[in-house]
Amino acid sequence: MRKVSLTGIKPTGSLHIGNYLGAIKPALELAKEFDARYFIADYHGLNTIKDPKELNFTIRHVAAGWLAAGLDPERVLLYRQSSIPEIFELTVMLMAFTSKGLMNRAHAYKAAVQVNADKGDDLDAGVNMGLFTYPVLMAADIIAFDSDVVPVGQDQVQHIEMAQDIAGAVNANYKKPVLKVPKAAIQDSVATVAGLDGRKMSKSYNNAIELFCSEAVLQKTIMRMVTNSQGVEEPKDPDSSHIFSLYKFFADQGEQDALAARYRAGGMGWGVAKEELFRVTNRALSPMRERYEAIIADIPALDKILEQGAEKARPIAAATIKRLRKACGIDS
Ligand code: ADP
Ligand code: TRP
Repeated sequence: MRKVSLTGIKPTGSLHIGNYLGAIKPALELAKEFDARYFIADYHGLNTIKDPKELNFTIRHVAAGWLAAGLDPERVLLYRQSSIPEIFELTVMLMAFTSKGLMNRAHAYKAAVQVNADKGDDLDAGVNMGLFTYPVLMAADIIAFDSDVVPVGQDQVQHIEMAQDIAGAVNANYKKPVLKVPKAAIQDSVATVAGLDGRKMSKSYNNAIELFCSEAVLQKTIMRMVTNSQGVEEPKDPDSSHIFSLYKFFADQGEQDALAARYRAGGMGWGVAKEELFRVTNRALSPMRERYEAIIADIPALDKILEQGAEKARPIAAATIKRLRKACGIDS
């Protein structure tokens, strides 16, 4: 049997280059050798997006993004989390095996508490149970599909470890491998893609380069990248430049060597380095942008693909539920 690769993306904003390089592209690579199940985590999105129009659009945006990036729905199951009720039944079952202490240690929850502490607010202000139990729903997403590997960026590793803990607790209790214990798949070179200011690219930091923006916006965004104050004539170190590190993702080896030499020689200002980055980025993203525009222009066809994916996915999750219910003594 082929191994299973599964990952999800929360529909909480515009897809950016970090999402593409850190999650979508490696996941599509894995889909060549694994049975792949890739989905839109829309109930995870509901934790933060309370505007119905925004959530509705962003779900389609992410789905169209997967397809534009090359996902073949004939070979990869693409679905909305909300279309698989078995995931939510599994979430409830896994709750019984998840200690509250484990959730207290989750980075996203701890960060929210810290923000409140710094402001002198009630520690749980603005924290909903969706955020607190986020890792259990994510564990159910993964475990429902007997996933072997979960391609994600570095920031998601703790969540995968929690899914391992939870599946492990179930298996230990019943003294047999009822649930598959997943592993994270992180491609080292893209574990963290830097944003405009050199920090991790993230929609929360307002430092992202959007994946499907127009050519003009792409250029404007890249020109806003933060640089040091080195003048045109000064030699520059490509290896410590986040402009060059992004360039490497989109340029071939010959281009990389040639531009690195220009950095080191001096005589090239940051403006030119950014122009070069724009050129290779736009070259790589243009065909994807065109596919995205065509897909998002036909929402009924897109929804059909998602429904067909869900139809094929549901029986897999149902089999996991059946296995676990039997182990628990709740079989019908
Ligand atoms: P954001 O940080 O912008 O909110 P998400 O948390 O929605 O992004 O991430 C969706 C997926 O993209 C996750 O698998 C995450 O690990 C990956 N990802 C996000 N930002 C980056 C980045 N800067 N570098 C590498 N991977 C990333
Ligand atoms: N938590 C992931 C993120 O913020 C999204 C996600 C939800 C996910 N369920 C998942 C990722 C299951 C991998 C597997 O990016």
